[in-house]
Amino acid sequence: MQNGTPGWVKVAELSEVPEGKPKAIQMGEGRSIALFNDDGKIFATDNQCPHMGYPLTRGTIRNGILTCDWHRRSFDLEGGGCFHVECDDLRVFPVEIRGEEIWIEPGDMEYRRAEEHKQLLREGLLSEDRWTMSKAIALLLKGGVPEEEVMGSILEHVARHIPSAHGSEGGADVSKLINGLRVGSRYEGEDRLIAVTTSACSASGEARQRLEVIPLPEPVTWEKLSRWVRVFSFEGQASRIERCLFTAYHKGDAEKLRPLLFECAFEPHFIDEPQIPLYVSYLSEVVDEFGWDRTADLFFYLGADLVGHRPQDPERYRRDAINILKEMMPTIEGAALERTNKFDEDSFVEALTSVDLQRSFEEVGAIISDGVYLDKVITTLVLLAADRMANTPVNVDAGWWNLTMELNLAASLRSAKEMGGDLIAAKGLFHVAWQIFADRWINIPTRLLSEELSKEKLDVANEEEGIETVISTIESLNVQDVGPQVIGYLNAGYSAQKLLLAIGHSVLWDDTGSEVLPTLRTVFDEWNNAEGHPAQAQLLVGLARYVTDIRSNTDNKSAATTAMNFAEGRTTIEVFEE
Ligand code: FES
Repeated sequence: MQNGTPGWVKVAELSEVPEGKPKAIQMGEGRSIALFNDDGKIFATDNQCPHMGYPLTRGTIRNGILTCDWHRRSFDLEGGGCFHVECDDLRVFPVEIRGEEIWIEPGDMEYRRAEEHKQLLREGLLSEDRWTMSKAIALLLKGGVPEEEVMGSILEHVARHIPSAHGSEGGADVSKLINGLRVGSRYEGEDRLIAVTTSACSASGEARQRLEVIPLPEPVTWEKLSRWVRVFSFEGQASRIERCLFTAYHKGDAEKLRPLLFECAFEPHFIDEPQIPLYVSYLSEVVDEFGWDRTADLFFYLGADLVGHRPQDPERYRRDAINILKEMMPTIEGAALERTNKFDEDSFVEALTSVDLQRSFEEVGAIISDGVYLDKVITTLVLLAADRMANTPVNVDAGWWNLTMELNLAASLRSAKEMGGDLIAAKGLFHVAWQIFADRWINIPTRLLSEELSKEKLDVANEEEGIETVISTIESLNVQDVGPQVIGYLNAGYSAQKLLLAIGHSVLWDDTGSEVLPTLRTVFDEWNNAEGHPAQAQLLVGLARYVTDIRSNTDNKSAATTAMNFAEGRTTIEVFEE
């Protein structure tokens, strides 16, 4: 190749590109450009098929249409336009014939196709096609589009998808979205891409436009609106709540909406509906992450559907729980919170695991009245849940849905506290305590968190070998051995963070990844909060046992790695190298 006129490059002799014999030339960082001779006229295009990267020099040309040989996507050879959905246009380059030489103007490699690739992502989200989503996300990230912007496009889809397809179950989509983002931020490259793509995939599917909600006519005040939301929440009237939330937002009361939803979600009648406060917490985080402008509609719809959910008529124990709570509420609401670090953790844990509801709730009430710092109590609840995951018998049903719910709900009380205030978080403690009581059927042996764990060290030469040992045990689905190995690894003084990242990596590349995202994120977040606690290790042990037991060993590696290679322009080169 020779440089002549600025911006133009000689790429071949005319004789090297006879009709019917396209030629591939490599440019820049291994990019491949295809030269075609169609009826005596020379054309230059990117050689990487925009669909899945197959070399277009292996395609065919008829009537000025270039058709890729792999999945038969076709393009206007001259302008690059693609005739199919879920495949963007082909990049083409100006060509000049100078004597017997072919010159092209490759232009700079600057990325200018963000809008096209966002459209591609929207198409992939609608069709639920993992490859299209992976490719679009890889291209956008590689092109320097900030991750928040990519997630913003996914969020716009989620906001329409949830009302079209799910209702309040859409909380699970929001959970995967925000937890995928949080987990992804711990990784780089392909691991990050797969976390983001996993979030996108879990929220893909139909997304219809909804009728616009309009504010209630004046005069309405915040006092009236908030009272109505509480009443409609109690009565299970989701659509009425949505209009109230919308009206309050338009009257400038946006900042009061999240505390109100938390307040409703922790009402006694939602005992045994742990997903409601948990999803309210994730929804609140989504607002924090993306701002009200992008999330308001989703917040109104899903928030209303969550707190407007009508629970089943309570059975005996739930009825008891609701009655005890109602009696205790005036004391709880009058308590002076956040005054002391001192509390007897062992007796608290004994009460919670006593299978005696009255005792459990009284103990929670006592530590609230004593003013124990809520963050300290939340750490205890998180570690208790992790400890239960570390000890649950796995022979029949380990109860993973319930146990991870205990863990994630407990951890979510930190957001409830931050966004809704201390009293709301204090009420949330009862919901975690109920969950532990309700999960009594799992028959987990009781253990105090102050009890010492095994001191045995893992017999390996170094940290790397230790990590490999644990990961291969996870991959061989050996749930009995993985717990002692994790403890042994930590006892040997090796890095917990490195092991956690390795476990997360192995989870992300397995098809069970999307299910594990919330728990993985909780363990990442909570590890430092538990620093110095004798049960800290149980966070990693519980996670390792959980991911081992539910693992499917069906990896979703190919879409993400191919998408990364595609975004780097490496797929055509690799085909040649083969
Ligand atoms: S049509 Fe070209 S790679 Fe699929």
